[in-house]
Amino acid sequence: MPARTLILTADTAAILRAAEAIRAGGLVAFPTETVYGLGADALAPAAVARIFEAKERPRGNPLIVHIAGIDTLETVAAHVPAEALAVGARFWPGPVTLVLPRAAAVPLATTGGLETVAVRVPAHPVAQKLIAAAGQPIAAPSANRSGRPSPTRAEHVRQDLEGRIDLILDGGPTPVGVESTVLDLTTEVPTLLRPGGVTLEALQTLLGHVQVLAGDDDEAARRSPGLRHRHYAPRARVKLIEAGGGEQAMLPWLEAGRPVALMAQRSVSPARPGLHVKVMPGDPEAYARELFGALRELDALGVEVILVEAVAEEGLGRTIMDRLRRAAS
Ligand code: TXA
Ligand code: MG
Repeated sequence: MPARTLILTADTAAILRAAEAIRAGGLVAFPTETVYGLGADALAPAAVARIFEAKERPRGNPLIVHIAGIDTLETVAAHVPAEALAVGARFWPGPVTLVLPRAAAVPLATTGGLETVAVRVPAHPVAQKLIAAAGQPIAAPSANRSGRPSPTRAEHVRQDLEGRIDLILDGGPTPVGVESTVLDLTTEVPTLLRPGGVTLEALQTLLGHVQVLAGDDDEAARRSPGLRHRHYAPRARVKLIEAGGGEQAMLPWLEAGRPVALMAQRSVSPARPGLHVKVMPGDPEAYARELFGALRELDALGVEVILVEAVAEEGLGRTIMDRLRRAAS
C-alpha cells in the first residue's frame, strides 16, 4: 500500500500523470459527474484487487467499469441488446450504469465473480480525459471507505483513503452528488437495481416497462450484491422521520441534554441549545448534490443521532430516500 497520497488539481498534466499511474497498476481517485470514483485498470486483476483492499470492500461486491464511449461497449460486454443502445444513446455520457453479459476480457476480480458486468460512460470531463489517456476501461467504485457516505469532494476522499491510494485528482465538487442508476438488462424485463442520477420515470418513458425489486428482497440482494452491505452511514446513528416531524423527534434528546442534528427542507426556529439544523434545498437536484456532504458535516459535530426528515419519493427524491434508508438501516 502506498504511504503517500498525492493530491493534484485535475489539470491536463495531472490527468496524464494519473493515466500513467493507472497503466502501471496504481489507484487514482477522480471526479465523475455523480461522485468521486476510485479507479484502477479494469482489465488487470492485481490492480483491481488493490481497490478492494484500499476500501476494505467485500470481494463479492462487483465494480462498475467506466468506458469513454458507447463505441467501445463491446470490448467489455459480450452481448449488447437493443435496450442498451437505446439507453446509451439517450443518457450517455451520464449517470446510468447497465448490467450486461461480461466479455471474456473483463476479469472475474472486477465483476465480483459474476458473469455479468456493470458499465457506464461518465460525463465528467476529467473522467472522460482520464479514460482516454489511460487507453483502458477503468473500474471504479465510489472512492469512500466501505460503508461510509460516497465522496462528493476531493477532501472527502482524502479523509477516507489518504495513505491507501496513489493519487487524488481534485476536480471540485461533483455536480450530481448521488451515484449512477444501476439497470440490469440481462433480465426478461429491465430491472432497476439501484435508483440514481437518472430517474426511474425517465427510464420507464424510454423503455416502457422497468421492474423494481424491493430493496429487502432476496432476489434483489442476489442480483445487486452491493445491496447486502451497510451503506452511506456516518458514525452517528441516522434516524429517518416523517417530513415536519423534527420538533417532536428531537425532544427526548434535547430534554436529556444530548446534542442532536436535524436535516430538513425547512428552517426550524427558535434556535435551541444542543440542536444543529442543516437546512436542505427544496429542489431535489440541489438536495442530492448536498446530501452526502451534509451527512459528513453533521457527523463531524460528534452528535449521537442525525434526524432526517423524509422527502417526496418521486424523481430524484426516490434516490435520495434510498440513500437515507440505507444510511439509517
Ligand atoms: O455513480 C457511480 O456509479 C459511481 C461512480 C464512481 O461511477 N460508482 C459507484 O460504484 O457508485 P459502487 O461500487 O459504489 O457501486 C456499484 C454498484 C454496487 O451496488 C454493485 O453491487 C453494483 O453496482 N454492481 C456492479 N456490478 C454489478 C453486476 N455485474 N451486477 C449487479 N450489480 C452490480
Ligand atoms: Mg459505493
